[in-house]
Amino acid sequence: MTILVVGGAGYVGSHAARSLRHSGYKVVLYDNLSTGFRRLAQGFELVEGDIADEAKLRPVLASVDAVMHFAGHAYVGESVENPRKYFRNNVLGALSLLNSALDTGIRRFVFSSTCAVYGIPEQIPITEQAPREPVNPYGASKLFFENALEAYSRAYGLRSVRLRYFNAAGADERGEIGELHDPETHLIPLALAASTESGPELQIHGSDYATPDGTCIRDYIHVNDLADAHVRALQYLERGDEKDGGSLAINLGTGRGHSVLEVMQAVENVTGQSVRRKMGLRRPGDPPVLVADPAKAQTVLGWTAKRSLADIVSSAWTWMQKTSSGS
Ligand SMILES: NC(=O)c1ccc[n+]([C@@H]2O[C@H](COP(=O)([O-])OP(=O)(O)OC[C@H]3O[C@@H](n4cnc5c(N)ncnc54)[C@H](O)[C@@H]3O)[C@@H](O)[C@H]2O)c1
Repeated sequence: MTILVVGGAGYVGSHAARSLRHSGYKVVLYDNLSTGFRRLAQGFELVEGDIADEAKLRPVLASVDAVMHFAGHAYVGESVENPRKYFRNNVLGALSLLNSALDTGIRRFVFSSTCAVYGIPEQIPITEQAPREPVNPYGASKLFFENALEAYSRAYGLRSVRLRYFNAAGADERGEIGELHDPETHLIPLALAASTESGPELQIHGSDYATPDGTCIRDYIHVNDLADAHVRALQYLERGDEKDGGSLAINLGTGRGHSVLEVMQAVENVTGQSVRRKMGLRRPGDPPVLVADPAKAQTVLGWTAKRSLADIVSSAWTWMQKTSSGS
C-alpha cells in the first residue's frame, strides 16, 4: 500500500513518513519546500510541487492508495497579520488537493489539524466534543478544512481522520531528523538555544496567568508519538469502521500539561545550563491552559503517547547539537 505524504519534507510529515515506512508502507513525499527541507526528505522519493498544482498532483495521486496532508502554513501570529496567505494555502490550496484526491479515486485521507480549532476552551482537559471556536485565522483555516472533510465524507464517501495535535516537539531518537522551522517559534527549541552561549535570550509571554506558577500550560507531545498515531489512523481507515460517520476527529496529546517554567526546568536538567530568559507581556489570544483529553485516541485508535517531557527535551537537544555542529 502506497501513501502520499503531502508536506513530507516538513517537521511532522518527515517523522510520519519514517514511521509509515517502518510499518511496511511504501511512501512518496510531495512538497513545495516552502518551509520544508530537502534534508528531512532524504532517503525518500520526493515530488516537488504545490498542493494547488492539479496537473502535477494527479499522476502522483493516481499511483497511491491514501493521502496524509501535513502541508500548510502554521504560524499563528503571521496568520493574524497576513490572513490572505493562510486562507489561500490552508483553505484554497488544501481544497484543491482534496478535490484532486477525490477525482483520482482516493477514499482515505488523514489531516493534520490542531488544538487551535478549539480557541479558548472553557473546560480542561479538552475533549473532541468541545466547541470549535478558533480565535485566529490559522485555527479558522484548519476548521474550514475539517468541515470540508466532514461534508465530503457524507456526500462522497471519502473517509478521513482529523488529527488535532497539541504542541508537537522533540526529534526522532535515531538522530537523522528533527525540528527545523525558520523562523523557529516553538518553546522547546527556543529554550534550548537560550541555554547555549550563542543563542538569543528566551522571551516568556506572560507570568500573571491563573496557573500555579503564572505561566501558560501546554500539552507537549513527542513528534514520534504523533507519527505513530498517523500509522494507527491509517490502519483505522483500512479497517473500514464507520464510527463518526466516516470522518473521525481525534485529539493527539498526552493529557498532561507543563508550564513554561516547568519546560525551562526540564531544559536545564538536560543541558546543565541555565536558560537565559526575560519575562514579557501576555500575547493576545493565548489561552492560559491547553491540555488534551486523549481518551478517544486510546479507545478508537488504541494509541497513547509513550514519551515524557524529559524524552522530548533530550531528543531535541541531541538533534540541536547535531545540526549546530553542521552534521
Ligand atoms: N508543529 C506543531 O506543533 C503543529 C501543531 C498542530 C498542527 N500542526 C500542523 O501540522 C502540519 C505540519 O506542521 P509542521 O510543524 O511539520 O510544519 P512544517 O512547516 O515543518 O511542514 C509543512 C510542510 O508543508 C510544505 N508545504 C506548505 N505549503 C505547501 C504547499 N502549498 N504545497 C506543497 N507543500 C507545502 C512545506 O514546505 C513543509 O515541508 C501543519 O499543517 C500544521 O498546521 C503542527
